[in-house]
Parts: sequence; C-alpha cells; structure tokens
Amino acid sequence: MNATLAAFYPAHLAAVRRHADEALATGGCDHLLVAAGTPLGKFLDDQDYPYVASPHFKYWLPLTTAPGSWVVHTPGAKPKLVFVQPNDYWNVVPQTPSGYWVEHFDIVVVRSAAEALAQLPKGHNAIIAPDAAAGSVGLNPSPVLDYLHWQRSFKTPYELALMREANRIGTRAHRAAAAAFRAGKSEFDIHLAYLATARQTDAELPYGNIVALNEHGATLHYMTFDRTPPATHRSFLIDAGASCAGYAADITRTYAAPDAGEFQALIDRMDAAQQGFVAKVRTGQNYTALHLHAHHVIAEVLREHGFIRMNAESAVESGVTAAFLPHGLGHQIGAQVHDVAGFQVDEHGGRIEPPTGHPALRQTRTLAPGMVTTVEPGLYFIDMLLAKLREQPVAADIDWAKVDHFRQFGGIRIEDDVVCTEDAPENLTRDAFALAG
Ligand code: GLY
Ligand code: MN
Ligand code: MN
Repeated sequence: MNATLAAFYPAHLAAVRRHADEALATGGCDHLLVAAGTPLGKFLDDQDYPYVASPHFKYWLPLTTAPGSWVVHTPGAKPKLVFVQPNDYWNVVPQTPSGYWVEHFDIVVVRSAAEALAQLPKGHNAIIAPDAAAGSVGLNPSPVLDYLHWQRSFKTPYELALMREANRIGTRAHRAAAAAFRAGKSEFDIHLAYLATARQTDAELPYGNIVALNEHGATLHYMTFDRTPPATHRSFLIDAGASCAGYAADITRTYAAPDAGEFQALIDRMDAAQQGFVAKVRTGQNYTALHLHAHHVIAEVLREHGFIRMNAESAVESGVTAAFLPHGLGHQIGAQVHDVAGFQVDEHGGRIEPPTGHPALRQTRTLAPGMVTTVEPGLYFIDMLLAKLREQPVAADIDWAKVDHFRQFGGIRIEDDVVCTEDAPENLTRDAFALAG
C-alpha cells in the first residue's frame, strides 16, 4: 500500500500545486495558507470535541492529526508545512512527520499554534481556515474556494488509492457486522464488532455508524445503539464507513433474517436496481437525471411488489416514490463523506438546484472522469411520511395492509462508492467486498 501511495503522491501533489496556482491567480493572491484547524472546545469545559483535520489540509498531505498546523503554498516554491508539535505532557504530541510525502515539503516545527501563525507569510494571502486565527482579510475567498472545490471533485490516482483502501477496511468490517447480526447481537455489540474489525475508533470513522435493527431502519440517520438485542431479528440496515488518511468510504447494506419472507426478495430487487444505477455512472451522465430515473425504477419495484397500483410516472409525479425514498440517490465523496461541489456549475461557482420535490438531493452535476459518487437508493417505511401520504388522493391506489406489514422491517438502503471513468465505472465498494470474501 505504501509503495503505491509513494508512487502516486508526487503526481497528486503536482496537481494540487497546479490547482493552487490557478486558484491564487483567479483570486489575485500571492500565497495560499491552508489551516489544519484546531479542535472545538466544549462549552465551560477544559476538553475538546474530537479533532478532525480540514479537508483542504488533507488534500495536500496525509496528516490527520496536526492541530494548529498549516500548509503554505507560494507559486514556484517548494510547499512549506508549519507543523505544531507542542511541549505537552498531558496529551500525546503529534509525531514528527515521516513517510513517503515529507521530502516534498520544507517542514518547520514549532511549539504552538500561535508560533505557527508567526511563520505564515505576510502579504496578499488566500487563507483557507475554519476560523479567523490568521486574520479575516483573505479568509476563505469565494473565487479561490470555488476553484479548488471544483478541482477537488476530480480525484487523482493517489486519492483513488486511499479510497480503495478505505473501502477495503469498511467492507471487512461490514462482513463482521453481518455475522454479528446473524448471531443475534444487539445494535451496540454489532457496532463494537464493526469497530474491532475496522480497527478504527468512532472518532476516526468518516461519520457515525448507523446500525439499525428491524423498524429502526426507517430512521435515516438512526444512531441510538440499543444495548439489548430485540426479541426477534427481522432485518438489519448498516450504513458504516471507514477512513484512510482522511479519505472516506460510505457503505450501506441491508440484510433479512432467514424467515423474513418477501423482505429478502425486496432487498434482492433493490440490489439489482442499485447495480443498474451504478452502471450509469458514466461520463456525461447528469446526476439529477439519474436520481429521477431511480425514482421511476423504485416506482416499478413498488408496483411489482404490490405496494402501489398507479403507473410509475404518476407515482413519481404525485410524490409517492418520494415518500418511500426521501433522500438523494447519492453525493460526491472524498476527503469529506459529503464532498464539496455537488451543485457547482463550473470552477467559478454557481449552483444547480435540485428538482422540485427532491430537496434532499446533494448532487446535480454532470459526471466526468475522476468524480466519485455514492449510489445509494433506498426504500423505507417511515411512519411520518406514510401518514402524510395516507391523506393524499393517491392513497386510494396504495395497498396499506401490505405497507403496514413491512413497517416491522424499517427499510432498505444499498450504497456503494463509484468512480466515474472514461469508460466503465469502477465500483470501489463491490470490488472491496469481492476481495473481503
Ligand atoms: N452515511 C451518510 C450517507 O450515506 O450519506
Ligand atoms: Mn452516502
Ligand atoms: Mn451512507
């Protein structure tokens, strides 16, 4: 793995520097200062929330624990890392940088975030930071951010290698979680089985695990972790990822108990549908169009299984499919699990709104080589949305007894991370599951 990363990193850094040069030119600035960020402090307390490095910092180098540090880029000069290594006997001090990437930086070690600030060049800077520690002039200028966000959506071979590894870690942990479900464990113990196999702490994961048994699968971001197993295990929805050098995997699978009857057939049908959507992750495919196509397919699934009696077109038009699938088909993913620029018109910014009736869609762009998107169709039985649907005229064309029967299973979501290429898509998640055995 390290040999692969070492081989890919120089070209990645060259691309990042090139994009930084362009961004500075666009913004009319001399230096780009990228903060790693510092942890948020808890209110009236002397403790911090878990630290997460800024995605812009992770784009430059694979350092995820460097609070207070900065990358300084000046066109034509070797990039500089101002690295904070405090004199501290309370906390573990960030290790002196080592590895395949350090030779590409001039590294200055300082003892505090304040000392780091003193190392930053004066002048006409573009500062990318979550706060104004380095000054508010030039802080997060839109032309610079828009340009960089646009470029960040096209992943380099180095970034794809990190995301393949994140998927490898995540899929192995998914296998362990599925085994824990089959063994009748509680949500909490399934979560622990996941962490044990991923060998990542909660704080290292790219997002909080969703481990939902039975009807809990109907809560899209269910994160409660019941400590005791339910009386019966009917279904299991797990949305859990993993990180590699701060790059994310975002993976969801849904399982049925052996006696869950038609629910297994519904999972299989959704799995086939999901693979059909993945196959359309092609250069030139508009993602809004793919999302709307998915709604038509979900309408067919609902019809085939006897949940609805209207045709697919009217099921989509009347909002019936949106009641069963109230989130977007997917989003960009990379150094952030919900990566930037999903709505952007071009490198100068702008915003392409999601279509009416689909406000949760997080990506409206047209796919191009190097973009990585999740493809995560779902089908849920959500009390709140079903109650609203029941009041609509279309309610007459819905088999409510059937819908009610399926509420005990919560819902289905199947989610892969997929690379758009010049050719066929690369499914990072299914490839990793295949290797995981
Ligand atoms: N795990 C959050 C998402 O799927 O977007
Ligand atoms: Mn996702
Ligand atoms: Mn997810």
